[in-house]
Amino acid sequence: MIITIDGPAGSGKSTAARNLAKQLQFAFLDTGATYRATTLRALREGVDLTDEAAMADCAARLELRMQRRGDDVAVFDDGEDISLAIRTEEVSANARYAAKPPAVREVLVALQRDMGQQLGDFVTEGRDQGTVVFPNAEVKFFVTASGEERARRRVEQLAEQGEIADFETVLANILDRDESDYSRAVGPLKQPEDAIVINTDPNTPQQTIEQMLAHIQGSR
Ligand code: C5P
Repeated sequence: MIITIDGPAGSGKSTAARNLAKQLQFAFLDTGATYRATTLRALREGVDLTDEAAMADCAARLELRMQRRGDDVAVFDDGEDISLAIRTEEVSANARYAAKPPAVREVLVALQRDMGQQLGDFVTEGRDQGTVVFPNAEVKFFVTASGEERARRRVEQLAEQGEIADFETVLANILDRDESDYSRAVGPLKQPEDAIVINTDPNTPQQTIEQMLAHIQGSR
């Protein structure tokens, strides 16, 4: 069984996907990690991020492996644990250079399908999972939340890590990421026609999982 979860940055889809996979004892595929790992390689190698052929070459040379570690999934490239290195602000801010070029997406979509084939039952999370990568998935979710709520959560998360962030700046970054996610020509963020839409604005993370489980049980 394949369950896809798509949605904008900060909507809560990542937390939901991880918890859902755990509760169902399904594997978990984090497709954002493939774009992040491509970006990390490019930054480390000093590649011109606007050179689409060079970015596609970085993607083609990835040797990715994802492995469950406690409640999380560790990401390795060519044997190196890059789980933390792909989550820096620098990688987040530059990931659009991996996400936009069709040549990069072609390589990474093929990689994601290959990884999925080895997983058995799995939950996959991203922007184009229900529309492009796994259009035949049995259950598709599209997770949304308002920009303000996503910014509020991010500010709170940063505060827990001891970082004080300005709400307006965080909100502007989120809206900027939305713009590049929704507007790219290939693999844009888009609600699959057959998706169940969940607005997480009023939800606790547990309520989102419960809504998802109710839909999954109904479709089994
Ligand atoms: O979800 P996450 O923040 O880890 O995604 C990292 C980057 O990869 C984002 O810029 C997002 O637009 C892109 N992405 C994508 N397609 C996916 C998953 C992520 O373009 N399926």
